Amino acid sequence: MKILTIYDTYTGTTEKCAQIISQKLSSEEVRITRVPKNGEVDFQDYDIVLIGSYVHAGKISRRISKFCKKNLEKLLSRRVGIFLCMLSQPENLEKYLKDNFDDELLQHAVAKGCFGSELNYEMMNPIIRFIIRQIVKKAQPEIGLHLDEIEKFVQKLKS
Ligand SMILES: Cc1cc2nc3c(=O)[nH]c(=O)nc-3n(C[C@H](O)[C@H](O)[C@H](O)COP(=O)(O)O)c2cc1C
Repeated sequence: MKILTIYDTYTGTTEKCAQIISQKLSSEEVRITRVPKNGEVDFQDYDIVLIGSYVHAGKISRRISKFCKKNLEKLLSRRVGIFLCMLSQPENLEKYLKDNFDDELLQHAVAKGCFGSELNYEMMNPIIRFIIRQIVKKAQPEIGLHLDEIEKFVQKLKS
């Protein structure tokens, strides 16, 4: 089976998760590609399309959003998986998905996952780094990848 993972990242976590998924699906042909600015990705040759994004201020990457809107019809003719990297916990995933993706695409997706977060401060611009440090200090969120959620996601794709 041919699988294409289309992702966007600000500090590298979403890309890392895309790579973990690929390792877990090593028996399949998997390609990972960062979504381009114009949201144009040719996935005609792929059976499964995985879409991954970070969340900033409640919103997914603008490029990923654009890609999904532009390619909705085509995506509905493939098996689709959607994953988010965010500080918010898996129990909040549905709300984040609903706020950011078309209902039809969400209903169509065979796997959806919240893979947790990393805070790679060195990759952030100084102002954002300062703001995020303040938020983390105050809210003390749980930080880290949910490897169990990645495993569940992969199992759903395989079933
Ligand atoms: C500017 C900024 C805003 C963020 N906003 C949210 C948010 O609204 N909700 C959330 O759960 N996580 C939020 N996060 C945490 C990121 O989604 C998380 O660190 C994620 O792992 C980043 O993925 P990336 O490394 O692929 O960019 C935010 C992080 C940054 C830097």
